[in-house]
Amino acid sequence: MRTAVVYYSMGGNTRLAAEKAAAHLGAELIPIAPVDAYPDKGFRKFFWGGKSAVMGDKPELQHYDFNSGDYDCVVLCFPVWAGTFAPPLRTFVEENRSALENKVTGIIACCSGGGADKAIGKLIKFLGTDEAAAELVLIDPKDKPDAANDKRIEDFCLKLSYER
Ligand SMILES: Cc1cc2nc3c(=O)[nH]c(=O)nc-3n(C[C@H](O)[C@H](O)[C@H](O)COP(=O)(O)O)c2cc1C
Repeated sequence: MRTAVVYYSMGGNTRLAAEKAAAHLGAELIPIAPVDAYPDKGFRKFFWGGKSAVMGDKPELQHYDFNSGDYDCVVLCFPVWAGTFAPPLRTFVEENRSALENKVTGIIACCSGGGADKAIGKLIKFLGTDEAAAELVLIDPKDKPDAANDKRIEDFCLKLSYER
């Protein structure tokens, strides 16, 4: 069984979580990023990113390699923006909708405070499914290191492994 860990990260927190999960799962890491990068500093960062998330934007993505036939399992990782999943994930799901239908799906959400469960629910709904095989919420794992996070990631990967 092969697994792809697909992630968007602006500040490196989601990247860290995705890298650790991919290492556990022996998975391929697939970063995605918009062609036009979001501002990543100050007020503009929250204004434009938040607006884009609320508007349900699907920003054009830079080239990524995702040969869906190669994988049985896909882990989608995103930062929570304005209570929902960051827009690059919306584009990725839209571009690979039918390919994702028959895959075991795991979801990792990174946030700084709250709203991650709701954001995961929104992604599940957008995927058109009822549930994910495994879900994980981490609070800024890079910026606020927590010794318990490795165990959380390990448990997530274990749960996913049972399902795949
Ligand atoms: C535009 C924007 C909106 C955000 N909205 C939320 C939010 O609604 N809830 C929350 O807990 N964190 C929110 N955050 C914080 C990020 O989700 C959090 O810091 C995350 O770990 C960042 O991941 P990254 O470093 O991979 O980009 C927001 C960050 C940005 C840039």
